[in-house]
Amino acid sequence: MKVVQLKMSTKQQALFIIFGGTGDLAKRKLYPALFALYQKGIINEHFAVIGTARRPWTDQHFQAVVCESLPEQDAAAARKFAAHFYYQSHNVNDTEHYVTLKKLAQKLDEKYQIGGNRLFYLAMSPRFFGTIAQHLKSQEIVTADGYNRVIIEKPFGHDYQSAAELNQSISKYFSEDDVFRIDHYLGKEMVQNILAIRFGNNIFNSLWNNRYIDNLQITLSESLGVEERAGYYETAGALRDMVQNHILQIVSLLTMKMPTTYSEADIRREKICALKALKVYQPQEVAENFVRAQYQAANGLKGYRQEDQIASDSQTETFVAGKLKVASENFAGVPIYIRTGKRLRQKATRIDVIFKPVPGNIFADQNLADNILTIKVEPEGKVSLQVNVKKIGQGYQLQEQQLDLSPENRNGQQIPEAYEKLLLDALAGDATNFTHWEEVAYSWKFVDAIRQAWDNSQQPLVEYPCGSMGPKQADELLAIDHRNWIY
Ligand code: BG6
Repeated sequence: MKVVQLKMSTKQQALFIIFGGTGDLAKRKLYPALFALYQKGIINEHFAVIGTARRPWTDQHFQAVVCESLPEQDAAAARKFAAHFYYQSHNVNDTEHYVTLKKLAQKLDEKYQIGGNRLFYLAMSPRFFGTIAQHLKSQEIVTADGYNRVIIEKPFGHDYQSAAELNQSISKYFSEDDVFRIDHYLGKEMVQNILAIRFGNNIFNSLWNNRYIDNLQITLSESLGVEERAGYYETAGALRDMVQNHILQIVSLLTMKMPTTYSEADIRREKICALKALKVYQPQEVAENFVRAQYQAANGLKGYRQEDQIASDSQTETFVAGKLKVASENFAGVPIYIRTGKRLRQKATRIDVIFKPVPGNIFADQNLADNILTIKVEPEGKVSLQVNVKKIGQGYQLQEQQLDLSPENRNGQQIPEAYEKLLLDALAGDATNFTHWEEVAYSWKFVDAIRQAWDNSQQPLVEYPCGSMGPKQADELLAIDHRNWIY
């Protein structure tokens, strides 16, 4: 048996400096993820966190907030963990504040014997990233004796141009190897499973091309509405919020060629090629291949335009469906249908790979079901394969059957949250599940063409009722190709 060498998670020592330490993301995701790593002993004695934001909090208050953000079971452990947290009120444009930050960082580095390893987590508006990066360098908050990594939250720009400027403002001070751009979908267990399923099984690997695959379908549906994020969402819309990053990342994992080795450099190289191979549409092609829509009041739920802080004539799309084409040897001619939206029937993230029918099928009169490989990412991580078998009994009828290929949880381990995995990867310096700048660049180029066509188009947004699976135009996108959504 071939032994696969896994990168083992060993004890890590690091100082985290979180810009945006009082924010929602820090409380909902980062502190619980760090706590999980602490509970597992991965970060333990030799770690500390400095949270910064403008509010004038004390360390005690910050530590209380951190404790509140953690799961309730273990109050004593939570307090011990939170004792590693320090707060600094910080104006990112004020050089003096970086001087204070440096002193605090040095003090904590000595106190916890961290050895100069620093992770700078930028969880605030991207317009501050450049100035933060510049000050980290000029005020020598980066160390000479350890690693210095920057973790960046989305959105990475709002189009190619702004993303390129943002990237330049960071790359002046940090090399690409030290920049970790988060796409939390890449930390999801079932998204990570795509490569295992594809490249770990000859039965899938050898069929994974346009000779055997008829079409791919990706659905990221959400039941929640815009919630408290009107300000951001009005400038983003579903295309920028979900397609540019999460959906295109999934597309790249589904269509990339097999990397030469299972390594960061080789995987990212193939993902870049996959994104480069996406056909960038002309305006007329956008009209033919993309649908944008907005949710309307139904089932006791408000319509998008009636939500707080949303313009009553807002043109922001809360739903996108599209048909993507890939100009690669293996995927030319295989349509990739994608769909995402808010206030849809239910929260579900899934991928369906629909295989072509058997050529010269001797059961053609029986209307055989398609072979479909389904990867359910959420709410439940499941994998299944639809096949045809003989119905038990007299005669010769076939029936479809679902084979459950879901990974068995052999050691009964709790599946780690995406942020826990990604933070551990960043600590270990493994950027495989972070997006390379070139991936971001090609994704924006693809998305910009759609956005520009919409901005210049007279066609109004279409509507869909809350609780549905989107507008009928999203179904027509497939019907015209004699196909339908599997989900
Ligand atoms: C975020 C989007 O990136 O992903 C949100 O900004 C969306 O609008 C969220 O709700 C969905 O993530 P998940 O993990 O809940 O599927």
